[in-house]
Amino acid sequence: MDIAVFSAKPYDREYLNAANAAHRHRLQYFDVPLDIETAALAAGHGAVCIFVNDLADSPVLQALKQGGTKLVALRCTGFNNVDLKAADSLGIKVVRVVDYSPNSVAEHAVALLMAINRKIHRAYNRTRDFNFSLDGLMGFDLCGKTVAVIGTGKIGRVFGKIMVGFGCNVIGYDKFPSPEFEALGARYALPGEIGVSADIISLHCPLTPETYHVIDADTLSRAKPGALLINTSRGALIDTEAVIAALRSGQLGGLAIDVYEQEAELFFRDLSGTIIADDILQRLITFPNVIVTGHQAFLTREAVTTICATTLQSVTEFETGKPLSNQISAS
Ligand code: NAI
Repeated sequence: MDIAVFSAKPYDREYLNAANAAHRHRLQYFDVPLDIETAALAAGHGAVCIFVNDLADSPVLQALKQGGTKLVALRCTGFNNVDLKAADSLGIKVVRVVDYSPNSVAEHAVALLMAINRKIHRAYNRTRDFNFSLDGLMGFDLCGKTVAVIGTGKIGRVFGKIMVGFGCNVIGYDKFPSPEFEALGARYALPGEIGVSADIISLHCPLTPETYHVIDADTLSRAKPGALLINTSRGALIDTEAVIAALRSGQLGGLAIDVYEQEAELFFRDLSGTIIADDILQRLITFPNVIVTGHQAFLTREAVTTICATTLQSVTEFETGKPLSNQISAS
């Protein structure tokens, strides 16, 4: 099948080409993201393959439909960037990669937590300058601390399991609690208790209208003073302005994020030679107790291999008229 691959990076090409040996689809790579300006590039391609910051809203889907696209294959888990209702009404099928490696994201969340707590980012910069002073590098033992996992799905559970291994008291919140989370030695708690008792809050729920800005001025004001906040899920779970105010007042002890609400304009490209117009991100990056990574939590060999294999398998299922194992729809 002809597949237009948008937002294609060198690692996408390498791993998709390798996975395609088992399928022999015709892959055409575009560096640009999918949006209303670029949708015409997909004309003549039955399938479009997109990533987290490509836009498949109703006008884009209509443009894709006009060009003959019948399948949108997300090479990621989250699908908040696709208008599923519009896709359904246009008869465009949508597939995603449900389960590739929850370990990749959970382990990155742990890396961010360890780095922000033990100030690894500051130590790295200092020792490169032969500055071996320890002033300002004090952290705390994770053992015995309370860690709140918001969203106890696949990634949240792996993160919770690792935190149990560190000797933490792991509590969680989920709209749909699962016994598997409790089997880790963790327990569910109400948001009020999480606010009062959590030393660390890690976000692992999807972005939905319900979870938009779930961390805002109100929730931050009820958090334990000095708590650390980790977000590897989606940027808009956090009201960044409110977080900046909480960092400034000391109410929040540190922030480590792999995702950012306005990341679509910034992430996955080298902007080191340009002036960034995003004042909020500029401000965030000036804080010594903030770490930002550019949506790299998924980026392990194991995860990307599975993502590419699953994506192309979904296209093959569609092409051969088989049931779509990884289909998502509005209904
Ligand atoms: P999952 O579907 O297994 O788990 C999500 C959990 O959130 C579920 O248990 C669900 O019940 C819960 N949830 C839904 N609505 C909620 C609400 N209103 N409040 C509390 N919990 C709620 O998904 P998985 O695989 O664990 O992924 C979680 C998120 O991680 C994805 O939605 C995606 O946004 C993000 N992600 C980030 C990546 C990165 O590279 N930074 C890569 C992959 C996923």
